[in-house]
Amino acid sequence: MEALAAGSAQGYHRAMNLDFSDSNPELAELYPEHLGVVGARFDAALERVGASHAVVFSGSQRMSFLDDRTYPFRPNPHFLSFAPLTRHPLSYIVYTPGETPVLLYYQPHDYWHAAPTEPGGYWGSHFDIRIVHEVDEIARHLPAERHKCVLLGEIEDPSHAFDIERTNPESLLNILHFSRGRKTGYELACLRLASRRAVLGHRAAEERFRAGDSEFDIHRAYCAATRLTGSELPYDNIIALNHNGATLHYTNLELSPPGVLRSFLIDAGAQVHGYAADITRTYSYEDPQFAALIARMDALQLEIVRHVSAGMDYRQLHLSTHRLLAQLLVDVELASGNVDTLIATGVTTAFFPHGLGHLLGLQVHDVGGHMENDSGARIDPPSGHPFLRLTRMLEEDMVLTVEPGLYVIDMLLRRLRGSDGESHVNWKRVEELRPYGGIRIEDNVRVLHGGSENLTRDAFAELH
Ligand code: GLY
Ligand code: MN
Ligand code: MN
Repeated sequence: MEALAAGSAQGYHRAMNLDFSDSNPELAELYPEHLGVVGARFDAALERVGASHAVVFSGSQRMSFLDDRTYPFRPNPHFLSFAPLTRHPLSYIVYTPGETPVLLYYQPHDYWHAAPTEPGGYWGSHFDIRIVHEVDEIARHLPAERHKCVLLGEIEDPSHAFDIERTNPESLLNILHFSRGRKTGYELACLRLASRRAVLGHRAAEERFRAGDSEFDIHRAYCAATRLTGSELPYDNIIALNHNGATLHYTNLELSPPGVLRSFLIDAGAQVHGYAADITRTYSYEDPQFAALIARMDALQLEIVRHVSAGMDYRQLHLSTHRLLAQLLVDVELASGNVDTLIATGVTTAFFPHGLGHLLGLQVHDVGGHMENDSGARIDPPSGHPFLRLTRMLEEDMVLTVEPGLYVIDMLLRRLRGSDGESHVNWKRVEELRPYGGIRIEDNVRVLHGGSENLTRDAFAELH
């Protein structure tokens, strides 16, 4: 177990079930079933394209232009779906239906960098592991009949394809991407752990905000509490004080605190074995009016989460959010008019210009959010809402985010000037709100029949 027991630096770590290692007994119990599900998906996918073997490449290390420096390694999510091998460039999994998958585990003789450690953990005994020290050794472990193989992964250097010609066939990927929408028990356990890990950081970050730290120092406290470096985070932390919260993907991390503290928007995640959390909270420093607005947005967000259940159309949830937001804008005197008018004139979109949420898993914006089925048919976002990343009917064990927002984004509000929306906006109230930036509340939610499991709120409740 990693050093996340009670009494550690931030004082937030509890002796609770926070074993992020690959000897976690709960994950060990759940993993065999997961691997079976992944195998069954590959069986169907290979059958569709008439291939006998899937060769899944982890990826290669990218180099900076004219430099000997590498970019952070981001593994192929299809590789990660088999096993928690997050730091393993140039490794391959060979999957053949009915056989134990072969793992070509690249462990170079390298005294400059740390090579991958000996394979093991709860996943190790489920593979026929062959350690290779040179890339050239890989060829002889691959199926001899290369024409019966498909290769999945990003091939930047053709020599890494080992003469396999069929790479990433779309009709095969459609099966894998559509089915990844529903999570296995093992994946749900990883996602719960990722939420808890992120919440450790969120708690530490809120404390540093209240103590008056800069964005940079809040970020450092977040990384320390989650035990993740910046490049291990599933996306760049959004740590935004005051008006910076109005920039949706603000990642500048100012070194000095602002002269006056008003607000704090933090959108920050964590990952466990490649599975991501994606959580946003917004805090008022000491302004009761802004605190009340946050409370209204929190209630709105919970109202939307209450409607998450299997069989629900996520597009409807997004459109319902605009209706609730329109009423909220009227209630807090940021706008006037009826709900339909505020939506039709683009007022709600100016205050809330992004989608309600997205699928979550091995990728923060997990694949397949627009897929109608596993044949590649697409469900487009509703007209006027191009940024909605999830348009599917919800199914049990999907995990998604619910992240409504309300911001003062001058670029968008300016576009209302001269339009039918202009007279519906209370520009004086907008001026008052501008220095606070914006509000977003984002939870990670598992879909159930007749309801949902809120991974994020559960984690905050456990780590009170
Ligand atoms: N953190 C990116 C997002 O919320 O989608
Ligand atoms: Mn987020
Ligand atoms: Mn998100």
